[in-house]
Amino acid sequence: MTRMMHKLPVSAYTSQDWFDREQREIFSKTWRYACFIEDIAEPGDYISVQAGLNNIFIVMGHDRRLRAFHNICRHRGTQLIRAVGKTKKALTCPYHDWTYDLDGNLISVPDEKREFEGIDKSCLGLKPAAVDVWRGMIFVHPDPDTGSITEWVGDLEPKLGPHAVDKLPEYKDARTSYEIKANWKIVVENYIDVYHLSHLHSGTLSMYDHAKAKYKFVGTHYAFWEPPSERYGADIKANAPYPLVIPSEQAGAWVPMLFPGIGLAETESIWATFIVKPLAPELTRVENRVRVANASIWEFGKQALRSNSFWSGSFGGKYKPDPENKDDPMTSGDLVAEDIYACEQQQKSLKSPYFEVGPVSVGESPIIGHQEIILNWLEGKK
Ligand code: FES
Ligand SMILES: [Fe+2]
Repeated sequence: MTRMMHKLPVSAYTSQDWFDREQREIFSKTWRYACFIEDIAEPGDYISVQAGLNNIFIVMGHDRRLRAFHNICRHRGTQLIRAVGKTKKALTCPYHDWTYDLDGNLISVPDEKREFEGIDKSCLGLKPAAVDVWRGMIFVHPDPDTGSITEWVGDLEPKLGPHAVDKLPEYKDARTSYEIKANWKIVVENYIDVYHLSHLHSGTLSMYDHAKAKYKFVGTHYAFWEPPSERYGADIKANAPYPLVIPSEQAGAWVPMLFPGIGLAETESIWATFIVKPLAPELTRVENRVRVANASIWEFGKQALRSNSFWSGSFGGKYKPDPENKDDPMTSGDLVAEDIYACEQQQKSLKSPYFEVGPVSVGESPIIGHQEIILNWLEGKK
């Protein structure tokens, strides 16, 4: 058989030039996750999000419709709003107080008669962007004329879990955001590396049967599903750390990733996001949010995860993590700590003259698929 080869050079993971091209050609031309629907629930609520080279904000209008605009004042371009907030009626630029209504119209210019004799405010509204809602999340796209998010997700939809996502409450204390000292593609490649599941996570992911995982790319998006391991699945209600969010017969883990870097983790007891945000060639932020059946049961689940019976190898794990020992990521019992550790250790080697990438396993084939997609987008062949 012909073994697959890695497609990207080392510089793709280290250089500013690659980073800039990806920001321009990929992250500025795709749907970006912004937030959950409940984050913008009332008229006047707004949030801003970076979509490649574009800063975009979403605001709910008085008609309760969501609208997205480029966060650029039509006077001299100053960003109108920061992060998250709420306004009653209007958005005022901090620089010279030009003011826009929630529909993006320019409604007031200070000293208009004296300073801007004869300007036509109706031509100076905010530039629109696209906004859409999918699976309990709000997404934006810099191009207002792009298709819908459903079109973008396309044939991935039937490969997702049967979760009624917008009916599940978020457990806010579980919200995390952390930086990984690695290129964003290293983080994605780790997410879609099926080979590592039984090794790096031998103690933390033994609830699932990785040998039976089914995975493939559907267009530019990645689909992944695996069933519970025999022991874990024998009594899924009793074994799951949280109350089930889907019928027990359908238990399993769906771990898809929308291109680029929008990961979901959908299991029988949680539904979570894994949003990859490139910050610099060798620095990436990941944001996780988690939905469960009932937000008040989280503490109970944490206790279950800490207990010996959960980790004592009863689901076939190779070793017993020690959640009290947080210093060593490899025995912390923390799946995320294991992934961060592996990504950072891998990134460290890239600049060594002795670095040479080795053969690709079957379970790593998605990594090659992702590298090909990156190349296609950068070459305009998407
Ligand atoms: S830049 Fe916004 S009012 Fe001048
Ligand atoms: Fe992992």
